[in-house]
Amino acid sequence: MAFTVAIDGPAASGKGTIARAVAARFGFGHLDTGLLYRATGRRMLDGEDPLEAARNLRAEDLQRSDLRGGDVAQAASRVAVDSAVRAALLDFQRAFARRGGGAVLDGRDIGTVICPDADVKLFITASDEVRAARRHAELSAAGEDVTLAAVLADLKQRDTRDAARATAPMKPAADAVLIDTSAMGIEDAVAAAVAEVSRRLETVR
Ligand code: DC
Repeated sequence: MAFTVAIDGPAASGKGTIARAVAARFGFGHLDTGLLYRATGRRMLDGEDPLEAARNLRAEDLQRSDLRGGDVAQAASRVAVDSAVRAALLDFQRAFARRGGGAVLDGRDIGTVICPDADVKLFITASDEVRAARRHAELSAAGEDVTLAAVLADLKQRDTRDAARATAPMKPAADAVLIDTSAMGIEDAVAAAVAEVSRRLETVR
């Protein structure tokens, strides 16, 4: 049975953690669609044309260990503005969403563009300050030497670009359930997401 969960939201909102936890809880596949843009952005930083990179993306590109840094995040956000790059990545995402056994996709445009008929749509948010603190802790743990102020500025710049672009801007689908994780521990945020999925599964099974 195909069953699709679309999870969107800005950087460091908690959507990736929630997506992985929901997939593990229900035995669904999980696709972090940000990785597709990060891998494309990484190849652009390496000197390749972004559209060629997106068209030729391979599974190995998504496994690279150098996709998590701030420079790659910015490059991903920049290539993501290009509608041809987005189009090149569309079929892969839709095919993943339809796989048997259920799928969770997280990104920016899953509920609006990639899977407008998703069974469950969640939009995860958190305040800028909370998101910056989370991302700063992650980057510091990974050995990146960066200040909290720089991380906050970087997130705001990326959010503005991601939300303002003409093609598939980041925004909640009209029928998405909003979850604000600013004041929530990760267990509570995951529990809220799992409850939404369980509710929907009961109606389709
Ligand atoms: O989720 P992330 O931070 O890894 O995403 C990196 C960038 O990729 C993000 O700033 C915008 C882009 N992106 C997108 O445009 N659409 C998606 N579905 C996922 C990511």
